[in-house]
Amino acid sequence: MSERHPPPAMTIAEAVTALHRGDLVAIPTETVYGLAADARNPDAVGKIFALKGRPADHPLIVHISGPEQLIQWAREVPDAAYRLAERFWPGPLTFILNKRDDVPDEVTGGQATVGLRCPDNALTLELLRRFQGGLAAPSANRFGRISPTSAQHVRDEFGERAPLILDGGSCTVGIESTIVDLSRTPARILRPGRIGIEQLRPYLPGLQAGAQTGSPRVSGDMAAHYAPRTPLSMLRRDRLIEEAHERDAVVLCIGELPAGLVGVALDDDAEAYARQLYASLRWLDQQQAACILLEQPPEGPAWLAVTDRIKRAIVGSNPK
Ligand code: TXA
Ligand code: MG
Repeated sequence: MSERHPPPAMTIAEAVTALHRGDLVAIPTETVYGLAADARNPDAVGKIFALKGRPADHPLIVHISGPEQLIQWAREVPDAAYRLAERFWPGPLTFILNKRDDVPDEVTGGQATVGLRCPDNALTLELLRRFQGGLAAPSANRFGRISPTSAQHVRDEFGERAPLILDGGSCTVGIESTIVDLSRTPARILRPGRIGIEQLRPYLPGLQAGAQTGSPRVSGDMAAHYAPRTPLSMLRRDRLIEEAHERDAVVLCIGELPAGLVGVALDDDAEAYARQLYASLRWLDQQQAACILLEQPPEGPAWLAVTDRIKRAIVGSNPK
């Protein structure tokens, strides 16, 4: 952590005070930075929507310090949720469960379920323990834009309006949590993430994947999301090299950067790629090129979540 920031202990105390006061705090998690408010305080939660420019009917995830808090938010907690929490928490897995009546509608977008997760970041876990409540937090970016994976990204997103930021360094996972809907049988993955269907199936027989059409409930489910401003497209490597030479393009490649091209080359390991994806898109977006050309990642389950985010970024970056 750099010297410009106060020591973590002090920062956590400040964050607790700010949250109890009803202010927003940007928090580090292993996936992406969150824009947090006291989930029991509707006015505080309202500030999240105002700052993000997010439609009010989009539900938020409540971050909690551990499985023992599930029952404070969920009406009933199936055994599978406890077994999954035992295996994967703290970690990048969010449960959708039927909510208790006292969970504010502002948090759930007025629906009967609530999203819950225990993030794997030491600062934020300590904050949650000291705060002694739940923190409603979407990703700390303006609506539809690229999620932040460092404190600096949060500053870049909000500028003067940036809230107090707990600086926990760079996010280790780099893409948002897997969301699994446990409020229905069979359970369903609503958003893919680092934790894949094969890891979850042993706990959830019959587990399905893919949001059902017509459901507006998962904002990450909308086709356009996580988007840079520069038009983004995905090509096979040979085509990408040809096109990049013809156009004023920057490129996002896998393995080695082709000679003569400007851009970023990411690791061919899917987890390492995911960790760098959003920071790379942000950097590429700043280069003021005519377009960003992205090398098509390999097929297969390890790349599913990354490919999902890329496809949404493509749609979001190409306004019709
Ligand atoms: O990794 C993450 O999940 C990050 C970090 C900050 O924890 N958070 C995150 O939040 O990605 P957000 O708001 O950008 O995305 C949360 C997703 C949204 O797509 C939202 O619609 C969905 O979770 N969600 C939340 N509550 C839900 C519910 N009750 N039913 C269905 N979807 C829900
Ligand atoms: Mg988001």
